[in-house]
Amino acid sequence: MNKYLASHVATLPPSGIRKFFDLVATMKDVISLGVGEPDFVTPWTVRESGIFSLEQGQTMYTSNAGLFELREELSHHLYTTLGLSYDPHQEILITTGASEAVDLVMRAVLEPGDVVLVPDPSYVSYAPCAILAGASVHFVPTLAKDDFRLRVEELDKVYTPKAKLLVLSFPNNPTGAIMNREDLLPIAEFVVKHDLLVLADDIYSDLTYDGTHVSFASLPGMHDRTLFVSGFSKSYAMTGWRIGYVAGNADLIGGMTRIHQYTMLCAPIMGQIAAIEALRSATDARNDMVTEYDRRRRLMVHGFRQMGLDCFEPLGAFYVFPDISKTKLSSEEFAEQLLKAEKVAVVPGTAFGPSGEGHIRCSYAYSTEQLLEALKRITHFVEQRLANL
Ligand SMILES: Cc1ncc(COP(=O)(O)O)c(C=O)c1O
Repeated sequence: MNKYLASHVATLPPSGIRKFFDLVATMKDVISLGVGEPDFVTPWTVRESGIFSLEQGQTMYTSNAGLFELREELSHHLYTTLGLSYDPHQEILITTGASEAVDLVMRAVLEPGDVVLVPDPSYVSYAPCAILAGASVHFVPTLAKDDFRLRVEELDKVYTPKAKLLVLSFPNNPTGAIMNREDLLPIAEFVVKHDLLVLADDIYSDLTYDGTHVSFASLPGMHDRTLFVSGFSKSYAMTGWRIGYVAGNADLIGGMTRIHQYTMLCAPIMGQIAAIEALRSATDARNDMVTEYDRRRRLMVHGFRQMGLDCFEPLGAFYVFPDISKTKLSSEEFAEQLLKAEKVAVVPGTAFGPSGEGHIRCSYAYSTEQLLEALKRITHFVEQRLANL
Protein backbone atom coordinates (compact mmCIF):
# COMPACT_ATOMS: atom_id res chain seq x y z
CA MET A 1 0.00 0.00 0.00
CA ASN A 2 3.06 2.26 0.01
CA LYS A 3 1.96 3.71 -3.32
CA TYR A 4 -0.83 5.55 -1.47
CA LEU A 5 1.59 7.45 0.74
CA ALA A 6 2.30 11.04 -0.24
CA SER A 7 5.78 11.19 -1.77
CA HIS A 8 7.13 13.57 0.89
CA VAL A 9 5.97 11.10 3.57
CA ALA A 10 7.19 8.00 1.76
CA THR A 11 10.68 9.50 1.52
CA LEU A 12 10.80 10.70 5.14
CA PRO A 13 13.51 8.63 6.89
CA PRO A 14 12.63 7.00 10.24
CA SER A 15 14.16 8.68 13.29
CA GLY A 16 17.73 7.48 13.81
CA ILE A 17 16.90 7.01 17.48
CA ARG A 18 13.85 4.83 16.83
CA LYS A 19 15.65 2.73 14.22
CA PHE A 20 18.29 1.86 16.76
CA PHE A 21 15.89 1.16 19.60
CA ASP A 22 13.85 -1.25 17.52
CA LEU A 23 16.99 -3.39 17.61
CA VAL A 24 17.39 -2.85 21.37
CA ALA A 25 13.79 -4.03 21.91
CA THR A 26 14.71 -7.45 20.53
CA MET A 27 17.54 -7.95 23.09
CA LYS A 28 17.59 -8.92 26.79
CA ASP A 29 19.45 -7.31 29.74
CA VAL A 30 20.48 -4.22 27.82
CA ILE A 31 21.48 -1.10 29.76
CA SER A 32 20.10 1.76 27.76
CA LEU A 33 21.50 5.28 27.86
CA GLY A 34 19.41 6.02 24.83
CA VAL A 35 16.24 7.76 25.81
CA GLY A 36 16.06 11.50 26.46
CA GLU A 37 13.53 11.17 29.22
CA PRO A 38 13.87 11.95 32.95
CA ASP A 39 14.11 8.83 35.12
CA PHE A 40 12.24 10.68 37.89
CA VAL A 41 8.50 10.53 38.24
CA THR A 42 6.56 13.78 38.18
CA PRO A 43 6.71 15.52 41.60
CA TRP A 44 3.92 14.36 43.92
CA THR A 45 2.11 17.71 44.27
CA VAL A 46 1.79 17.79 40.49
CA ARG A 47 0.51 14.23 40.21
CA GLU A 48 -1.92 14.92 43.04
CA SER A 49 -3.38 17.92 41.22
CA GLY A 50 -3.94 15.72 38.14
CA ILE A 51 -5.68 13.07 40.25
CA PHE A 52 -7.79 15.70 41.99
CA SER A 53 -8.82 17.22 38.67
CA LEU A 54 -10.19 13.83 37.61
CA GLU A 55 -12.02 13.41 40.91
CA GLN A 56 -13.66 16.77 40.30
CA GLY A 57 -14.75 15.60 36.87
CA GLN A 58 -12.57 18.01 34.91
CA THR A 59 -12.58 15.91 31.77
CA MET A 60 -13.61 18.38 29.09
CA TYR A 61 -11.98 20.45 26.32
CA THR A 62 -10.30 23.69 27.28
CA SER A 63 -10.19 26.80 25.11
CA ASN A 64 -8.05 26.27 22.01
CA ALA A 65 -5.22 28.39 23.36
CA GLY A 66 -5.22 26.50 26.66
CA LEU A 67 -6.48 27.32 30.16
CA PHE A 68 -6.13 31.03 30.77
CA GLU A 69 -4.90 30.33 34.30
CA LEU A 70 -1.98 28.36 32.85
CA ARG A 71 -1.13 31.04 30.30
CA GLU A 72 -1.23 33.66 33.04
CA GLU A 73 0.98 31.57 35.30
CA LEU A 74 3.40 30.98 32.41
CA SER A 75 3.51 34.66 31.52
CA HIS A 76 4.54 35.41 35.09
CA HIS A 77 7.03 32.52 35.15
CA LEU A 78 8.73 33.54 31.89
CA TYR A 79 9.02 37.11 33.10
CA THR A 80 10.52 36.27 36.47
CA THR A 81 12.87 33.52 35.30
CA LEU A 82 13.99 34.64 31.83
CA GLY A 83 12.97 38.30 31.61
CA LEU A 84 10.51 37.55 28.79
CA SER A 85 7.29 39.51 28.47
CA TYR A 86 4.30 37.78 26.87
CA ASP A 87 0.64 38.78 27.01
CA PRO A 88 -1.27 35.71 28.24
CA HIS A 89 -4.33 36.75 26.18
CA GLN A 90 -2.74 36.53 22.75
CA GLU A 91 0.96 35.73 22.87
CA ILE A 92 0.97 32.25 24.44
CA LEU A 93 -0.45 29.02 23.01
CA ILE A 94 -0.51 25.78 25.04
CA THR A 95 0.37 22.77 22.88
CA THR A 96 0.53 19.00 23.10
CA GLY A 97 4.17 18.91 24.12
CA ALA A 98 6.91 21.09 22.66
CA SER A 99 6.75 18.65 19.74
CA GLU A 100 3.46 20.10 18.57
CA ALA A 101 4.80 23.61 19.07
CA VAL A 102 7.77 22.88 16.75
CA ASP A 103 5.40 21.50 14.12
CA LEU A 104 3.04 24.48 14.41
CA VAL A 105 5.83 27.02 14.03
CA MET A 106 7.02 25.32 10.85
CA ARG A 107 3.55 24.95 9.39
CA ALA A 108 2.47 28.47 10.24
CA VAL A 109 5.41 30.31 8.67
CA LEU A 110 6.89 28.10 5.94
CA GLU A 111 5.93 27.75 2.31
CA PRO A 112 7.29 25.49 -0.43
CA GLY A 113 10.67 26.83 -1.50
CA ASP A 114 11.55 28.30 1.90
CA VAL A 115 14.72 27.16 3.63
CA VAL A 116 15.16 26.47 7.34
CA LEU A 117 18.61 26.77 8.91
CA VAL A 118 19.06 23.97 11.45
CA PRO A 119 22.07 23.57 13.76
CA ASP A 120 23.82 20.25 13.20
CA PRO A 121 23.75 18.16 15.33
CA SER A 122 20.42 18.87 16.97
CA TYR A 123 17.12 17.32 18.02
CA VAL A 124 15.66 14.95 15.45
CA SER A 125 12.32 16.61 14.69
CA TYR A 126 13.27 19.99 13.21
CA ALA A 127 14.28 18.80 9.74
CA PRO A 128 11.32 16.40 9.24
CA CYS A 129 8.82 19.06 10.42
CA ALA A 130 10.36 21.59 8.01
CA ILE A 131 10.10 19.08 5.17
CA LEU A 132 6.50 18.21 6.05
CA ALA A 133 5.77 21.94 5.89
CA GLY A 134 7.08 21.95 2.31
CA ALA A 135 10.39 23.68 3.07
CA SER A 136 13.92 22.38 2.78
CA VAL A 137 16.74 22.34 5.30
CA HIS A 138 20.27 23.68 5.32
CA PHE A 139 22.26 22.21 8.20
CA VAL A 140 24.62 24.56 10.01
CA PRO A 141 27.52 22.62 11.55
CA THR A 142 28.32 23.34 15.18
CA LEU A 143 31.88 22.27 15.87
CA ALA A 144 33.69 20.73 18.82
CA LYS A 145 36.37 23.45 18.54
CA ASP A 146 33.60 26.04 19.18
CA ASP A 147 32.20 24.03 22.11
CA PHE A 148 29.34 23.12 19.76
CA ARG A 149 28.04 26.70 19.81
CA LEU A 150 26.46 28.15 16.68
CA ARG A 151 28.76 30.62 14.92
CA VAL A 152 27.91 33.29 12.35
CA GLU A 153 30.84 32.14 10.17
CA GLU A 154 29.12 28.77 9.80
CA LEU A 155 25.74 30.41 9.18
CA ASP A 156 27.29 32.57 6.43
CA LYS A 157 28.57 29.47 4.67
CA VAL A 158 25.13 27.86 4.30
CA TYR A 159 22.96 30.97 4.05
CA THR A 160 20.67 31.39 1.05
CA PRO A 161 18.24 34.26 0.35
CA LYS A 162 15.50 31.62 0.53
CA ALA A 163 16.18 31.16 4.25
CA LYS A 164 13.20 32.23 6.33
CA LEU A 165 13.61 30.53 9.68
CA LEU A 166 16.57 29.77 11.92
CA VAL A 167 16.28 27.09 14.59
CA LEU A 168 18.13 27.71 17.85
CA SER A 169 18.18 24.80 20.24
CA PHE A 170 20.29 25.53 23.31
CA PRO A 171 20.96 23.91 25.76
CA ASN A 172 21.40 21.45 22.94
CA ASN A 173 20.25 17.90 22.51
CA PRO A 174 22.54 15.95 21.82
CA THR A 175 25.71 17.96 22.63
CA GLY A 176 24.74 19.67 25.90
CA ALA A 177 26.18 22.94 24.52
CA ILE A 178 24.81 26.27 25.71
CA MET A 179 24.95 29.75 24.19
CA ASN A 180 25.56 32.74 26.43
CA ARG A 181 24.69 36.36 25.72
CA GLU A 182 27.97 37.09 23.90
CA ASP A 183 27.40 34.07 21.67
CA LEU A 184 23.82 35.07 20.88
CA LEU A 185 24.33 38.77 20.07
CA PRO A 186 26.07 38.18 16.69
CA ILE A 187 23.35 35.66 15.82
CA ALA A 188 20.75 38.37 16.49
CA GLU A 189 22.62 40.71 14.11
CA PHE A 190 22.64 37.98 11.45
CA VAL A 191 18.89 37.45 11.96
CA VAL A 192 18.13 41.15 11.50
CA LYS A 193 20.48 41.49 8.51
CA HIS A 194 18.69 38.65 6.70
CA ASP A 195 15.20 39.37 8.04
CA LEU A 196 14.78 35.90 9.56
CA LEU A 197 12.40 34.43 12.10
CA VAL A 198 13.80 32.23 14.87
CA LEU A 199 12.36 29.10 16.41
CA ALA A 200 14.05 29.04 19.82
CA ASP A 201 13.52 25.64 21.41
CA ASP A 202 14.37 26.41 25.03
CA ILE A 203 12.96 23.18 26.47
CA TYR A 204 16.18 22.53 28.46
CA SER A 205 16.44 26.09 29.82
CA ASP A 206 16.06 24.94 33.44
CA LEU A 207 18.70 22.26 33.05
CA THR A 208 21.85 24.36 33.00
CA TYR A 209 24.98 23.84 35.10
CA ASP A 210 26.87 27.06 34.53
CA GLY A 211 24.80 30.08 35.53
CA THR A 212 21.35 30.86 34.23
CA HIS A 213 20.05 30.37 30.72
CA VAL A 214 19.89 33.38 28.39
CA SER A 215 16.91 33.24 26.09
CA PHE A 216 17.38 34.53 22.54
CA ALA A 217 13.92 36.14 22.76
CA SER A 218 15.19 38.40 25.57
CA LEU A 219 17.80 40.10 23.36
CA PRO A 220 17.00 43.62 22.12
CA GLY A 221 14.60 43.52 19.16
CA MET A 222 14.19 39.73 19.23
CA HIS A 223 10.78 39.46 20.93
CA ASP A 224 8.78 39.67 17.70
CA ARG A 225 11.21 37.67 15.59
CA THR A 226 11.38 34.75 18.00
CA LEU A 227 8.94 31.93 18.49
CA PHE A 228 9.81 30.73 21.95
CA VAL A 229 9.09 27.01 22.35
CA SER A 230 9.28 25.11 25.62
CA GLY A 231 7.42 22.61 27.74
CA PHE A 232 7.11 20.68 30.98
CA SER A 233 8.55 17.31 29.89
CA LYS A 234 12.18 17.83 30.88
CA SER A 235 12.11 20.38 33.72
CA TYR A 236 9.35 18.72 35.74
CA ALA A 237 9.68 15.09 34.57
CA MET A 238 6.31 15.33 32.81
CA THR A 239 6.91 13.68 29.43
CA GLY A 240 3.68 11.66 29.50
CA TRP A 241 1.42 14.61 30.34
CA ARG A 242 2.14 16.15 26.91
CA ILE A 243 2.20 19.83 27.76
CA GLY A 244 4.30 22.36 25.88
CA TYR A 245 3.81 25.90 24.65
CA VAL A 246 4.87 28.50 22.14
CA ALA A 247 5.07 32.21 22.89
CA GLY A 248 5.66 35.07 20.48
CA ASN A 249 4.17 37.86 18.40
CA ALA A 250 0.34 37.85 18.56
CA ASP A 251 -0.14 37.60 14.75
CA LEU A 252 2.11 34.55 14.53
CA ILE A 253 0.58 32.92 17.61
CA GLY A 254 -2.85 33.65 16.08
CA GLY A 255 -1.86 31.74 12.91
CA MET A 256 -0.61 28.81 14.94
CA THR A 257 -3.75 28.81 17.07
CA ARG A 258 -5.83 28.47 13.89
CA ILE A 259 -3.92 25.35 12.84
CA HIS A 260 -4.02 23.95 16.40
CA GLN A 261 -7.77 24.62 16.58
CA TYR A 262 -8.44 22.38 13.57
CA THR A 263 -5.83 19.71 14.13
CA MET A 264 -5.53 19.31 17.92
CA LEU A 265 -8.36 21.41 19.36
CA CYS A 266 -6.60 21.73 22.70
CA ALA A 267 -3.90 20.14 24.86
CA PRO A 268 -5.15 17.60 27.47
CA ILE A 269 -6.92 19.32 30.36
CA MET A 270 -5.44 17.12 33.10
CA GLY A 271 -1.94 17.94 31.87
CA GLN A 272 -2.73 21.64 31.80
CA ILE A 273 -4.01 21.58 35.38
CA ALA A 274 -0.93 19.65 36.47
CA ALA A 275 1.31 22.17 34.65
CA ILE A 276 -0.24 25.03 36.65
CA GLU A 277 0.61 23.13 39.82
CA ALA A 278 4.17 22.47 38.58
CA LEU A 279 4.75 26.20 38.18
CA ARG A 280 3.25 26.92 41.61
CA SER A 281 4.74 24.22 43.79
CA ALA A 282 7.44 22.16 42.08
CA THR A 283 10.38 24.56 41.91
CA ASP A 284 12.25 22.83 44.75
CA ALA A 285 11.57 19.37 43.32
CA ARG A 286 12.81 20.62 39.93
CA ASN A 287 15.97 22.09 41.43
CA ASP A 288 16.66 18.82 43.28
CA MET A 289 16.47 16.94 39.97
CA VAL A 290 18.86 19.43 38.35
CA THR A 291 21.33 18.96 41.23
CA GLU A 292 21.17 15.20 40.71
CA TYR A 293 21.66 15.54 36.93
CA ASP A 294 24.66 17.73 37.58
CA ARG A 295 26.27 15.05 39.76
CA ARG A 296 25.67 12.39 37.11
CA ARG A 297 26.94 14.71 34.40
CA ARG A 298 30.30 15.00 36.13
CA LEU A 299 30.42 11.26 36.70
CA MET A 300 29.89 10.61 32.98
CA VAL A 301 32.38 13.18 31.72
CA HIS A 302 34.98 11.81 34.12
CA GLY A 303 34.18 8.24 33.04
CA PHE A 304 34.68 8.93 29.35
CA ARG A 305 37.85 10.94 29.91
CA GLN A 306 39.24 8.07 32.00
CA MET A 307 38.80 5.86 28.93
CA GLY A 308 41.11 8.20 27.05
CA LEU A 309 38.32 9.64 24.89
CA ASP A 310 37.80 13.37 24.33
CA CYS A 311 34.62 14.38 26.07
CA PHE A 312 33.23 17.89 25.78
CA GLU A 313 31.84 19.11 29.10
CA PRO A 314 28.11 19.61 28.55
CA LEU A 315 26.75 22.68 30.33
CA GLY A 316 23.07 21.96 29.83
CA ALA A 317 20.40 19.29 29.16
CA PHE A 318 21.12 15.69 30.26
CA TYR A 319 23.40 14.23 27.61
CA VAL A 320 27.12 13.64 27.12
CA PHE A 321 28.50 13.54 23.60
CA PRO A 322 31.94 11.88 23.75
CA ASP A 323 34.22 11.74 20.73
CA ILE A 324 34.73 8.10 19.75
CA SER A 325 36.82 8.72 16.61
CA LYS A 326 39.95 7.29 18.30
CA THR A 327 38.33 3.86 18.03
CA LYS A 328 38.33 4.24 14.21
CA LEU A 329 34.67 3.21 14.16
CA SER A 330 31.89 5.33 12.72
CA SER A 331 29.34 6.43 15.29
CA GLU A 332 26.85 3.90 13.95
CA GLU A 333 29.40 1.06 13.99
CA PHE A 334 30.41 2.00 17.52
CA ALA A 335 26.81 1.98 18.76
CA GLU A 336 26.01 -1.33 17.04
CA GLN A 337 29.15 -3.12 18.16
CA LEU A 338 28.86 -1.82 21.72
CA LEU A 339 25.30 -3.06 21.87
CA LYS A 340 26.23 -6.51 20.61
CA ALA A 341 29.42 -6.91 22.65
CA GLU A 342 28.45 -5.27 25.96
CA LYS A 343 24.68 -4.80 25.81
CA VAL A 344 24.83 -1.05 26.28
CA ALA A 345 22.60 1.09 24.09
CA VAL A 346 23.75 4.57 23.10
CA VAL A 347 22.64 6.69 20.15
CA PRO A 348 24.97 7.26 17.17
CA GLY A 349 25.78 10.97 16.80
CA THR A 350 24.65 10.85 13.17
CA ALA A 351 21.04 10.35 14.31
CA PHE A 352 21.16 14.11 15.03
CA GLY A 353 22.67 15.23 11.74
CA PRO A 354 25.79 14.60 9.65
CA SER A 355 28.06 16.60 11.99
CA GLY A 356 27.30 14.10 14.75
CA GLU A 357 29.71 11.64 13.08
CA GLY A 358 32.53 10.58 15.39
CA HIS A 359 30.35 10.94 18.49
CA ILE A 360 27.76 9.03 20.47
CA ARG A 361 25.01 10.46 22.63
CA CYS A 362 24.55 9.05 26.12
CA SER A 363 21.70 10.26 28.25
CA TYR A 364 22.47 10.47 31.96
CA ALA A 365 18.82 10.55 32.97
CA TYR A 366 19.40 7.12 34.51
CA SER A 367 20.25 5.91 38.00
CA THR A 368 23.84 6.13 39.23
CA GLU A 369 24.02 2.30 39.40
CA GLN A 370 23.02 2.01 35.76
CA LEU A 371 25.45 4.73 34.73
CA LEU A 372 28.35 3.10 36.62
CA GLU A 373 27.61 -0.30 35.12
CA ALA A 374 27.31 1.22 31.63
CA LEU A 375 30.62 3.07 32.05
CA LYS A 376 32.29 -0.17 33.15
CA ARG A 377 31.04 -1.99 30.06
CA ILE A 378 31.89 0.85 27.66
CA THR A 379 35.38 1.04 29.17
CA HIS A 380 35.85 -2.67 28.50
CA PHE A 381 34.66 -2.24 24.91
CA VAL A 382 36.89 0.78 24.24
CA GLU A 383 39.96 -0.82 25.86
CA GLN A 384 39.59 -3.95 23.74
CA ARG A 385 39.03 -1.94 20.59
CA LEU A 386 42.04 0.34 21.16
CA ALA A 387 44.27 -2.64 22.05
CA ASN A 388 43.38 -4.35 18.76
CA LEU A 389 44.01 -1.38 16.48
C1 LIG B 1 15.23 19.69 22.09
C2 LIG B 1 13.89 19.04 22.27
N1 LIG B 1 12.78 19.69 21.90
C3 LIG B 1 11.57 19.14 22.04
C4 LIG B 1 11.41 17.87 22.55
C5 LIG B 1 10.02 17.28 22.67
O1 LIG B 1 9.49 17.56 23.93
P1 LIG B 1 7.97 17.28 24.33
O2 LIG B 1 7.96 16.08 25.21
O3 LIG B 1 7.55 18.51 25.08
O4 LIG B 1 7.19 17.09 23.08
C6 LIG B 1 12.53 17.13 22.95
C7 LIG B 1 12.43 15.75 23.47
O5 LIG B 1 13.38 15.00 23.56
C8 LIG B 1 13.82 17.74 22.80
O6 LIG B 1 14.95 17.10 23.17
